[in-house]
Amino acid sequence: MWQISAQRIILPGVNAQIPTRSGVFVAGTDTGIGKTFAACALLHALRAAGLRATGMKPVASGCASTPDGLRNDDALALIAASDPQPDYADCNPFAFAQAVSPHIAARATATEVTLPPIHAAYGKLAARADVVIVEGVGGWLAPLSDSLLASAIAQALRLPVVLVVGLKLGCLNHAHLSARSIVADGCELAGWIANRIDPAMERVDESLETLRRRLPAPCLGVLEFGSDRARAASALRTAATMLHTRA
Ligand SMILES: Nc1ncnc2c1ncn2[C@@H]1O[C@H](COP(=O)(O)OP(=O)(O)OP(=O)(O)O)[C@@H](O)[C@H]1O
Ligand SMILES: [Mg+2]
Repeated sequence: MWQISAQRIILPGVNAQIPTRSGVFVAGTDTGIGKTFAACALLHALRAAGLRATGMKPVASGCASTPDGLRNDDALALIAASDPQPDYADCNPFAFAQAVSPHIAARATATEVTLPPIHAAYGKLAARADVVIVEGVGGWLAPLSDSLLASAIAQALRLPVVLVVGLKLGCLNHAHLSARSIVADGCELAGWIANRIDPAMERVDESLETLRRRLPAPCLGVLEFGSDRARAASALRTAATMLHTRA
């Protein structure tokens, strides 16, 4: 079994007074596998349990230009699923127009993604909510800059991680690699959510059984393909309660 490293990164400029355990980081086995879908379902499940739950998308590439500034679909979906609803800039402090890796999109605008603005925005959200659901960017090791990976957000905010496994061919490998990397980076893997992103996938039950047996954390729920909001939230009801008590 994998060892949990005690390594923590030191972050210059980060205010240690800001609460850092009131949230959950939603990582994914890849881009486009249902992080936003699962994060919104978690927000609805938390709200159904009577909790104040707010979503955050710290770094987003692929934004529309609007009179109010750049707007990203994930951030807008998380805001719509939140209560209290955050200001856009606090939900999504780093927004880039181009739908490419954030470190490339940022370079094109001579911007660099850094952790202090993310930490400051998270602190504002955490002050008003019982739980903040922070959606990651791409997969666990997606680059945000020449020196930062997506994993640094979970490390900096010291959040437990929920891994969304997009159920499709290849997901067993991606799930294992991601889980191993999360633990090796010193983060707590609180659990994983299976998302049936591919309705044509065969022998799903056996893949789920393999994941249950091999991943070093519990399955927190299974989201069926095409679940509506109520069904997805209901599938994560137990997960929401468990995450809130840990957050
Ligand atoms: N269980 C599901 N059933 C049907 N469609 C789904 C399901 N989960 C996700 N989708 C759809 O798949 C697409 C990708 O999902 P989503 O945007 O949540 O992925 P993501 O991991 O957040 O992607 P990104 O890396 O861009 O943030 C979306 O169109 C979403 O509506
Ligand atoms: Mg997303």
